[in-house]
Amino acid sequence: MTLSIKNIINEKVKDKSVFIRADLNIPMSDGKVTDFMRVERLVPTIKYLKSSGAKVIICSHFGRPEGIINKDYSLKPLINILSKALDSEVKFTESCTGPKALKAKGSLISGEILLLENVRFHKGEATNDIQFAEELAQKCDIFVNDAFSCSHREHASLHAITNFLPSYSGILLNEEITALQSVLSSPSKPVAALVGGAKISTKINIIEYLMTRMDYLIIGGGMANTFLVAKGFAVGKSLFEKEAVEVAKSILEKSKKYKCEIILPMDLVVAKKFEANIDTQIVSSDMIPSDMMALDIGPKSIDKMNAILKNIKTLLWNGPLGAFEIEPFGKGTFSLAKVASDLTEEGKLITVAGGGDTAFALNKAGVTEKFTYVSSAGGAFLEWLEGVQLPSISVLSNN
Ligand code: 3PG
Ligand code: MG
Repeated sequence: MTLSIKNIINEKVKDKSVFIRADLNIPMSDGKVTDFMRVERLVPTIKYLKSSGAKVIICSHFGRPEGIINKDYSLKPLINILSKALDSEVKFTESCTGPKALKAKGSLISGEILLLENVRFHKGEATNDIQFAEELAQKCDIFVNDAFSCSHREHASLHAITNFLPSYSGILLNEEITALQSVLSSPSKPVAALVGGAKISTKINIIEYLMTRMDYLIIGGGMANTFLVAKGFAVGKSLFEKEAVEVAKSILEKSKKYKCEIILPMDLVVAKKFEANIDTQIVSSDMIPSDMMALDIGPKSIDKMNAILKNIKTLLWNGPLGAFEIEPFGKGTFSLAKVASDLTEEGKLITVAGGGDTAFALNKAGVTEKFTYVSSAGGAFLEWLEGVQLPSISVLSNN
C-alpha cells in the first residue's frame, strides 16, 4: 500500500488555527493514568505547531460515552497531564462545538494550545455527521490527523472534517505508517511475524494476510492450542477454540502454497490452574496431560524461535506468547522480547510491534525503547495487519 499524505511539517502554519485530532484515550485506573505513551507520542507534533506559531486546537475522544455527556469520560484530567508533557499552558473548553468552543477557538493567540472536551459527547462524531464535522472545523484553517490509533474509525473528527479543511498527517501518524510499511510493503528479508494472544478467531484475517507476506509465522499464546488440536494433538484443559479448528487446519495447509513456514510451540509450560506461582511442568506439545493447561511456551520452543529471530532481518510482533501477566508464565514472551531487542540494538533486526496487549507486554519486558518501533495503536494496528485500508487514512491520501 503506497500512500501519499501531506505532512504538516512541510506547511506554513504561522498564525493558522490548526485542529489536531489526537488520541488521548489513555488507560486510567482509579482516576490515575497508568500509561503515558499516547501523551508522550503526541508531544512532537504539538510542540512543532506551537513553536511554528500556530494556534493549536486539540480534539480527542476518551472512552465510549456514546454521544452522551458523562463527566466520567471528561478530558479535563488531561489538562494538567498535557500541560506537564508540553511544558506549556493548556486551555480547555467544555464543549468541542457551540458558542463556548467558538469563543475559545477564536480568542487563541499564536503559540497557544486549547484542549476541546471529549468529541464523543456528541452523537455526530460516531455517525460521521457532516454538519457536526463542519461545526468542528469552524474557526480552524488546517486539519491534522495525528491519531493513527483511531483511524480505523470513520468518525466526524477524523473523516468528515477533511471535507472542510486542508488536511495533513502529524508526526506520529507518519511514524506509525512508515513503521508498518517497513514491515509489510518492502521489508528486508527474511521477514517473520510473531502472532500471539488468546484467540485465533480474532486474528484469522491477520494470519491469512501475513501468510502471503512472511517467510515465517511464529505462533504462540492460547491460539497455538487451536493449531495443536488441528494437528491432532490433545490439549488437556488448555484454552482452545473448537469452532476455529477447521480454519487452523486450512491455514496450515495454505501456508505451504505461500512458502510461509508456520512455527508452533514444540514444548509447553503446563499447570493445573491459571494461578500465580503454581507448580508447573514442561511437556512436549503432543503430550499435554488431560488435567493440565498450557500457559507458556517451553524452553525448546524458546530456543527454536530465538534461533529464527537470529536468522531474519525484519520482525513484526503482535500478541504475547503466554499468560505473561502472571508469574511464571512470561518467560517465553520476555525471552523472545530480549533477544529481539538485543538484535535490534546490534543493528541486525528491524522490530515493529503493536496492537492491544503487546505494548504492555513489551513494556513489562523492558524493551519498548530498544525496539525499532512500538505502535501506540490497538485496533487500528490490527486492522492494518489484515490489509484493510483504514478509512480515516485513505481520506487523507485523497486530499
Ligand atoms: C483505541 O484505544 O483503540 C482507540 O482510542 C480507539 O478507541 P475505540 O476502540 O473506542 O474506537
Ligand atoms: Mg479499540
